[in-house]
Amino acid sequence: MCQNASDATETPESPSRRAFGRVVATGAGFAALAALAACSPEGTAPRPASGTGVPTGTPSTAPASSGAPTATAATTTTDPADPAGPGPAASAPPSSPAAAAPGRQYSLTDPASPWVVVNKHRPLSPAAFVPADLVQPAVRLAASGEAALLNSTTAAAAQRMFDDAAAAGVVLVLASGYRSFATQTATYNSYVNSRGLAEADTASARPGHSEHQTGWAFDIGDGGGACSFQPCFAEQPAAVWAKANAHRFGFVVRYPWMFHEITGYYYEPWHLRYVGAEAAGEMNARGIATLEEYFGLEAAPGYL
Ligand code: DAL
Ligand code: ZN
Repeated sequence: MCQNASDATETPESPSRRAFGRVVATGAGFAALAALAACSPEGTAPRPASGTGVPTGTPSTAPASSGAPTATAATTTTDPADPAGPGPAASAPPSSPAAAAPGRQYSLTDPASPWVVVNKHRPLSPAAFVPADLVQPAVRLAASGEAALLNSTTAAAAQRMFDDAAAAGVVLVLASGYRSFATQTATYNSYVNSRGLAEADTASARPGHSEHQTGWAFDIGDGGGACSFQPCFAEQPAAVWAKANAHRFGFVVRYPWMFHEITGYYYEPWHLRYVGAEAAGEMNARGIATLEEYFGLEAAPGYL
């Protein structure tokens, strides 16, 4: 059941991470934030403060570049969650301090790169990008058509992760994978029509700004569909397991709780993004919650 979204006084529009830090530190805005919700794919709202609602990592208060991958993180070793090994972006120019670091690196701008960072400041280029290697993973599906597809690297990692979860007694289902530019256009427009522009922008990416279009991201559900795409999904076994284990398979929860001033979106415990086990593992170990912080990129709370 959707919550009333009328009290949308706290949206990810504030311009600075400092302001966001104040919100976190004081707890201010929780009531307003908790009043927001959404029910359909990609809709979400922050949950009221609770034990499981605490961010998985502490936002970095150091200069952004300190959160960037180090040479240690970017080794030339084989990624255990990526046996095929996504190809290094040999010809891609450095696009951040992270990209200039030594060691194994991938482009932050090429949508075919496992490290591409897509957010409200960083649209896909080209906007109509279509992954060349879309495949349907051998996992339990709650999606059909293009939504059941992922790029081949992500699909392989997802299979390993879903199998590992199953071995632990946790059912994961693929609820929404690849989305074309056209599908994202329809999804976003549906949000705008039903909830208005401001609220739509807290839950659904504008066309050309969604990770789903890259094939590197997908949404999970649990076996019974409990709380699908709703804030209460965070407390379902599938989300709890994914939050604790996804990094081992190269995934991050891309839109963590209370990091909307950096990511531009409220908590989506169902949205997993492949970045490779080295990067995901280092983010987990260092308590870095967002790709923006990890790669030393500016926060993207709203569209430019
Ligand atoms: N819900 C995420 C931000 C998307 O639409 O891609
Ligand atoms: Zn998603």
